[in-house]
Amino acid sequence: MAGDVVLVSEMEHHANIVPWFQLREQTGIEVRFIPTTDDYRLDLSGLDELMRGVRLLSITGMSNVLGTINPINELAAVAHRYGALIAVDGAQSVAHQPTDVVALDVDFLIFTGHKMLGPTGIGVFWTREDILDAMPPFLGGGGMIADVRTDGYTPANGPTRFEAGTPPSPRRSDCTRPCSTSRPRYDQRRATRTRIGGRRPHETRARFRRSCSRDRTE
Ligand SMILES: Cc1ncc(COP(=O)(O)O)c(C=O)c1O
Repeated sequence: MAGDVVLVSEMEHHANIVPWFQLREQTGIEVRFIPTTDDYRLDLSGLDELMRGVRLLSITGMSNVLGTINPINELAAVAHRYGALIAVDGAQSVAHQPTDVVALDVDFLIFTGHKMLGPTGIGVFWTREDILDAMPPFLGGGGMIADVRTDGYTPANGPTRFEAGTPPSPRRSDCTRPCSTSRPRYDQRRATRTRIGGRRPHETRARFRRSCSRDRTE
């Protein structure tokens, strides 16, 4: 709501900037930026000042612009100390390093299928159960309801509540496989020794290409 602050950084992907600007247009929130140092790290020297009034710190785990790996654990501790939540854009980091949301102590983790040899058009939004239960559904349709009557409806519990419509099931299973391995996927030395999602790297690449061409024809 008006006056709430969302704190992002200067090294974010547009996907973690534009939606906040849209929310600013709709509700009057303030969007604030953590600056970057000359050696392409987050400039955390003024973080305490920047945290004033922040409801959400939304930050990339690994910048697609700079390759910088951000200290998420440390940032989570700061956010929580100020009573804010922390959302991590894991689009790059999840594909390159094991990710443990409990150890990181984050409130939201968002990542995308196509950055981890999965299909386009699908991603993962993870949050804690208590937050999930408190969030209202933002899309209506089949599948997201527990009950529909002539005088109203009751949304389903859990993640189903956010999955209105017929799900893209083949894409979902193609996305589950890369999620189920904790090995970095772009390290060729490891990749040649390691099966990825039960396949050798060349099989994974072929499958990736197939899923991309399937996407184009959908
Ligand atoms: C760090 C980062 N965040 C977000 C995105 C956007 O993902 P999508 O295009 O699936 O929304 C990308 C790249 O596509 C990215 O590299």
